[in-house]
Amino acid sequence: YMKAWNEAGIKVIPVVASVALARLVARRGATAVVAEGTESGGHIGETSTMALVPQVVDAVDIPVVAAGGIADGRGVAAAFMLGAEGVQVGTRFLVADECTVSEQYKEMVLKANDTSTRATGRSTGHPVRALKSPFTNAYAKSEGFGASAEELGAMGTGALRKAAKDGNYEEGSFLCGQIAGMVNERQSAREIVDDLVAGAEHVLKGACAWVA
Ligand SMILES: Cc1cc2nc3c(=O)[nH]c(=O)nc-3n(C[C@H](O)[C@H](O)[C@H](O)COP(=O)(O)O)c2cc1C
Repeated sequence: YMKAWNEAGIKVIPVVASVALARLVARRGATAVVAEGTESGGHIGETSTMALVPQVVDAVDIPVVAAGGIADGRGVAAAFMLGAEGVQVGTRFLVADECTVSEQYKEMVLKANDTSTRATGRSTGHPVRALKSPFTNAYAKSEGFGASAEELGAMGTGALRKAAKDGNYEEGSFLCGQIAGMVNERQSAREIVDDLVAGAEHVLKGACAWVA
């Protein structure tokens, strides 16, 4: 669809988890590309943000947006140092006032620590990162027992809705990134963005301390 979208004047910024895919979408006319590391919440690839972003930056000549594990100004500044020109943040916004996910979901993110998430679904070729829960345990167990892609697909269908809308702890899939342990405060989206920008400026202004 990329050609048609470009012809219609639509900017296309695909999310990629590898250098090969970044090159492909750049060739097809992407305006920019989001290089998303495996730390992210939701569907993920295998490479970490730290390793992926500079390799994508070197591989394409369109702007690169870094995603995965960025939730404060330090992360934003680090992404810029890796060559990114912007960041995409997901997990921190789960607890934004404007975010309509269930209270159960928000409480789980606020209580999470650095080891609270796990990736399931590698056997299907479509891994997903979510907060550890009865659902991820059951899913991982089924994967371990060699459940088919169809069986796993059936398990996953509707699980995000059960988490986001119903707050169903037992059956919901609470997509969330590894950085959740640092997300401890409910704020408005504006406050979150302001904090990211101010934090990045603070870190970047202090960076000259590292050079003579
Ligand atoms: C609950 C949740 C749902 C997401 N859904 C999508 C999606 O539908 N499509 C997509 O491209 N990325 C999705 N993402 C990934 C985000 O767009 C973003 O790239 C990612 O969250 C960045 O990493 P972080 O979670 O560490 O901030 C989702 C992330 C979360 C946490």
